[in-house]
Amino acid sequence: MLFKGLTLSALAGAVLAQQATPDLVTLLSNQTELSNLTSYLQLFPDFTGQLGGLQNITLLAPNNAAFANLLNSSAGAALTNGDTDLITALFSYHVINGTFANLTEQKFVPTLLQPPQFANVTGGQRIAVYADGNVTTFVSGLLTTANVTGEALNFTGGVVHIIDNVLLIPQNVSETATQLNLTAAAGALTTADLVEAVDHIPESTFFVPSNEAFARIGSALPNLTTEELTSILTYHVVNGTVGYSNLLENGTQLPTLEGTNVTITVEESGSVFVNGAKVVIPDVLVANGVVHVIDNVLNPENSTQTAPSGDSESGTPAFEGASSASDIPFTSGVAQPTSTIATESAPGATAASSSSAGAGVPMQTGAMGAAALFGGAALVLNL
Ligand SMILES: *[C@@H]1O[C@H](CO)[C@@H](O)[C@H](O)[C@H]1NC(C)=O
Ligand SMILES: *[C@@H]1O[C@H](CO)[C@@H](O)[C@H](O)[C@H]1NC(C)=O
Ligand SMILES: *[C@@H]1O[C@H](CO)[C@@H](O)[C@H](O)[C@H]1NC(C)=O
Ligand SMILES: *[C@@H]1O[C@H](CO)[C@@H](O)[C@H](O)[C@H]1NC(C)=O
Ligand SMILES: *[C@@H]1O[C@H](CO)[C@@H](O)[C@H](O)[C@H]1NC(C)=O
Ligand SMILES: *[C@@H]1O[C@H](CO)[C@@H](O)[C@H](O)[C@H]1NC(C)=O
Ligand SMILES: *[C@@H]1O[C@H](CO)[C@@H](O)[C@H](O)[C@H]1NC(C)=O
Ligand SMILES: *[C@@H]1O[C@H](CO)[C@@H](O)[C@H](O)[C@H]1NC(C)=O
Ligand SMILES: *[C@@H]1O[C@H](CO)[C@@H](O)[C@H](O)[C@H]1NC(C)=O
Ligand SMILES: *[C@@H]1O[C@H](CO)[C@@H](O)[C@H](O)[C@H]1NC(C)=O
Ligand SMILES: *[C@@H]1O[C@H](CO)[C@@H](O)[C@H](O)[C@H]1NC(C)=O
Ligand SMILES: *[C@@H]1O[C@H](CO)[C@@H](O)[C@H](O)[C@H]1NC(C)=O
Repeated sequence: MLFKGLTLSALAGAVLAQQATPDLVTLLSNQTELSNLTSYLQLFPDFTGQLGGLQNITLLAPNNAAFANLLNSSAGAALTNGDTDLITALFSYHVINGTFANLTEQKFVPTLLQPPQFANVTGGQRIAVYADGNVTTFVSGLLTTANVTGEALNFTGGVVHIIDNVLLIPQNVSETATQLNLTAAAGALTTADLVEAVDHIPESTFFVPSNEAFARIGSALPNLTTEELTSILTYHVVNGTVGYSNLLENGTQLPTLEGTNVTITVEESGSVFVNGAKVVIPDVLVANGVVHVIDNVLNPENSTQTAPSGDSESGTPAFEGASSASDIPFTSGVAQPTSTIATESAPGATAASSSSAGAGVPMQTGAMGAAALFGGAALVLNL
């Protein structure tokens, strides 16, 4: 009797302990709203086995509603019959390195999406985290958001947060520019034959002028030689530094691909300027770093230009004497995004961006292609 009693209570203790911290697969399969995720993971037993064996991770687990949204899109088809590498890449992008039950103090968390085929960011592609009141929002490629729903769930290797949308792997710069309706920049890169260079240079920061920024100096653009245009565009690229907004400090000088530095000013209000141009949409994650959308084109011939004094609503043009064009420069024959939402919904976007930048951000709807879901690499792999 005594032995039996002991054994039972020991057993009960073991069961209780197991319930307190289940392993990952047990945890996921016990959540009805994660049944779709569980089904998909079962299709990739090797990956799931590895995932379940990891310690010190945070899994962002899209719920069934998130998959329903996704499957409504053309990208959804890729999930059910797609390439294992691509799909495991997408899952890897949902795994944060480190255990974060509370993400309030995190900003740009590294994920297990590390192969250069999908991301050229040291330490793994990042997800941006915005904690606002009780809502924790993750921002992924093309400013695609997902919000945490419910409590964090513990498992033996870390913690799971259930999210209401599937994250998007950050894409290359040119595709991102097109999809965000930064079509003048996309066209200018094509004109100067810089698309390949910009899409493949690892670990970089890209200051991308809005369409209005190019239009404002329209008269100065048609007469530029290819060398001059190349100097201007490469002056917008900081090679070797991924300057997420939380790393941009007042007074920082960043060396550009052109060779000359740009100067960062952070005003008291938190507004960020690069030389005289204002960042209107910060932190658009791309395959090889980060894009900040700016409201004026930078000029390497005018590199000493600084932020306007006071907390200015907008930046200052850097091309003296240039007048505006009625058409958006460089956009003839350039691919257009299909549908947009207002950019004020982009976390961190300034009020000025909605009125003066006028960039539109595409809605993540059924129009989104498989290439958009899996990043630029999908184009190469012909998914
Ligand atoms: C499964 O979920 C139920 C209710 O949500 C909970 O009571 C139970 O402890 C869970 N089981 C495990 C093994 O986590
Ligand atoms: C996803 O979950 C829903 C229930 O919410 C279910 O009807 C559907 O069959 C599931 N799909 C897959 C692929 O598991
Ligand atoms: C997590 O990051 C650390 C460095 O901070 C690295 O050593 C480790 O390999 C990473 N973990 C995974 C699973 O990639
Ligand atoms: C967990 O991962 C985080 C981020 O990589 C690291 O800072 C921390 O030291 C790790 N903790 C343990 C116990 O490995
Ligand atoms: C998360 O951390 C922040 C800051 O450290 C704290 O204010 C907040 O109460 C924490 N939230 C939870 C749910 O623990
Ligand atoms: C990463 O860089 C390598 C080498 O430049 C390149 O081949 C690869 O396409 C890049 N990956 C992405 C996702 O852009
Ligand atoms: C956060 O949640 C708590 C309790 O769930 C609630 O009392 C509070 O009003 C919420 N705050 C916000 C900003 O939504
Ligand atoms: C996440 O929450 C924000 C505001 O809290 C909202 O604008 C956004 O649409 C939400 N995204 C999703 C995918 O639920
Ligand atoms: C999860 O684990 C943390 C620390 O390990 C603990 O503080 C928290 O209460 C646990 N949450 C649940 C729901 O068990
Ligand atoms: C551009 O070139 C055209 C023709 O060569 C000339 O008429 C025009 O004044 C030039 N514009 C500027 C801003 O230099
Ligand atoms: C970018 O920087 C790296 C390391 O400093 C260098 O090897 C590479 O040549 C640079 N790329 C370009 C296009 O200048
Ligand atoms: C893209 O921006 C241009 C102006 O810069 C605007 O006319 C056009 O409507 C925008 N396209 C979309 C799809 O929002």
